[in-house]
Amino acid sequence: MKAIIGSDHAGISGRKEAVRVFLERGWEVHEKGPEGDSEKADYPDIAHLIAQSVTSGESRFGVLVCGTGQGMAMTANRYRGARAAVITDSFTAEMSRAHNDANIACFGERVIGASAVADLLGTFLDTPFEEGRHLKRVDKIDKVTGEA
Ligand code: RB5
Repeated sequence: MKAIIGSDHAGISGRKEAVRVFLERGWEVHEKGPEGDSEKADYPDIAHLIAQSVTSGESRFGVLVCGTGQGMAMTANRYRGARAAVITDSFTAEMSRAHNDANIACFGERVIGASAVADLLGTFLDTPFEEGRHLKRVDKIDKVTGEA
């Protein structure tokens, strides 16, 4: 299975942690983003690449790491079919999968630190979508007309 992982300059260490988690689990990993702090990247440029890969079906999961995770999630969620969640703790890691079927995990390295990215990503990947009553709610995410 394929995963795609990106970061801007504020999330390089967390991105490396995420790559390690997927490789240890036997995934094929594609990585996007700068290699050093001196190389700046604008977070939307990276988020577009990851969201396109996930929503096209090329990658099963995406991970985005920036300073807060927020700008990455805002950008990725512009794509129909993207369900990007900002994950801050083990509860949001679990619930974003179980209830929201999140397919892009966003982390703020300046908020939680790089090592927490690895722990929380593990929880995210270990948690299946519960389906059931959550299926119709997730389907409604892409309904932009507002009808009930
Ligand atoms: C970069 O300084 C910072 O603004 C970015 O990593 C992110 O936090 C945006 O949401």
